[in-house]
Amino acid sequence: MPSLALFASGNGSNVQRIVEYFSGNPHIGIDLILTNNPRAYVLERARNLKIPSVVFSRKEFYGSNYVPDILAVQNISHIVLAGFLWLIPENILSAFQGKILNIHPALLPKYGGKGMYGTRVHQAVLASGDPESGITIHYVNEKYDDGQIIFQSRCPVIPGETPETLAEKIHQLEYRHFPEIIESVVKKSR
Ligand code: GRF
Repeated sequence: MPSLALFASGNGSNVQRIVEYFSGNPHIGIDLILTNNPRAYVLERARNLKIPSVVFSRKEFYGSNYVPDILAVQNISHIVLAGFLWLIPENILSAFQGKILNIHPALLPKYGGKGMYGTRVHQAVLASGDPESGITIHYVNEKYDDGQIIFQSRCPVIPGETPETLAEKIHQLEYRHFPEIIESVVKKSR
C-alpha cells in the first residue's frame, strides 16, 4: 500500500488538509511528518493528528543518510513537500524518482526559484501587475521549483489585493486541489 511522508517547515495547514483528506482511505496512508524546524507549528498538528513526526538538522539532511534511512524503515513510497523550504538532496531524489511532489503558491515558471517562498511570492506577483496568480503542483528535482509541472490552477488578482488577501485565495486553491492531485499521482505511480 502506498505510504506517504509529508515534509513541511512551518505552519502546516496543507499538511493538516492532506491528512484529513486521506484519513480512512484504505489504499493510501499518511504515515510520517518531517520538518527541519523544531519550532514549526506543523509538529503540534502532527501530535493532534496522531501522525509520527521527525525533526532533522541541516547536517543530518545533507551530510548523512539519516532521513532516507527513516523513510526506508517506515516503508515510505512517496514524498509530498507542503511548505518545505530546503532543497532535496541526491540520496533522497535517487531513492524516490518520480515520487516527490511539491506545491508552489504561484504560476511557475514565474515567481519561483531560490528565496521565492511565503509572502515574497505574493509581493512579487503584485509588484509585477500580473492580473492572475495561482498554484503549481510539480515533481521535485535538484533545483528549486524546477521539476515537471503536473497541475496548475489560477485565480484573478483584483484591484486592492494585498499579499495577505492573495495568500488566502491561494491557500483555498491549495486545499481544494492538492490532496486530489496527490491521490491521482500516487495511484498512477505505485
Ligand atoms: C503554501 O502556500 C505552499 O504553496 C508553500 O508554502 C505554503 C505553506 O503553507 N510552498 P502551510 O504551511 O501549508 O499553511
